[in-house]
Amino acid sequence: PQGLQVAIDGPASAGKSTVAKIVARKFAYVYVDTGAMYRTVTLRALQAHVDLTNETEVLAVLQHTKITFTPGNPVQHVFANQDEVTEEIRSETVTNHVSTVSALPAIRAALVKRQQELAKAGGIVMDGRDIGTTVLPHAAVKVFLVASVKERAERRYLENQAKGITTSLKTLQQEIAERDYKDSHRTVSPLRKAPDATEIDTTALSIDEVVDRIADLIRQKQ
Ligand code: C5P
Repeated sequence: PQGLQVAIDGPASAGKSTVAKIVARKFAYVYVDTGAMYRTVTLRALQAHVDLTNETEVLAVLQHTKITFTPGNPVQHVFANQDEVTEEIRSETVTNHVSTVSALPAIRAALVKRQQELAKAGGIVMDGRDIGTTVLPHAAVKVFLVASVKERAERRYLENQAKGITTSLKTLQQEIAERDYKDSHRTVSPLRKAPDATEIDTTALSIDEVVDRIADLIRQKQ
């Protein structure tokens, strides 16, 4: 039988990509990180010194950028045309500008179309902000992951520490809260739980526990 479409949404640093990757591996599904697509456009627009609020110019950048993923452990490799951007798209600069780019309707329309193409054949785990509501409204499994801002800032803090970056916990909390606000208040497909999504609060759960809950949801639909 054909694989299912699994949509995983939620705010920044709720653990989406970590669990989405493990779930995909468990079921031999393809994992698509849609945030990486918004981050790649943002990076290229910043490099081109384009005004990030200028929809026409940012769209022109996107139209000249083929975004591809290749498998990798622990992270997938992300390419903008021939250039690997896997690490650069996680920089603080990109992180703090991505919500401006992702609020542009034309950018969303273009990326949603690419994402729907990738998901067409099923057997996919896709994570983002609007997967269950807009990209894959008919996904068999929809999950909405949440966690407290404090917990998410602490997770980011540990991730940064492992990379040798020190950012104060307070700054991280503010940045996360700000990105949540922008992502939930934009006009076009804001971050919202789809009515038929299962909400999982990961604050007090381990990664394995979250994975098990999602795996159960998938098995119920297979
Ligand atoms: O998931 P990640 O934190 O990498 O996403 C980066 C940003 O991309 C989000 O803060 C949001 O502004 C945007 N995004 C989006 N829709 C998606 C995925 C990401 O607007 N489906």
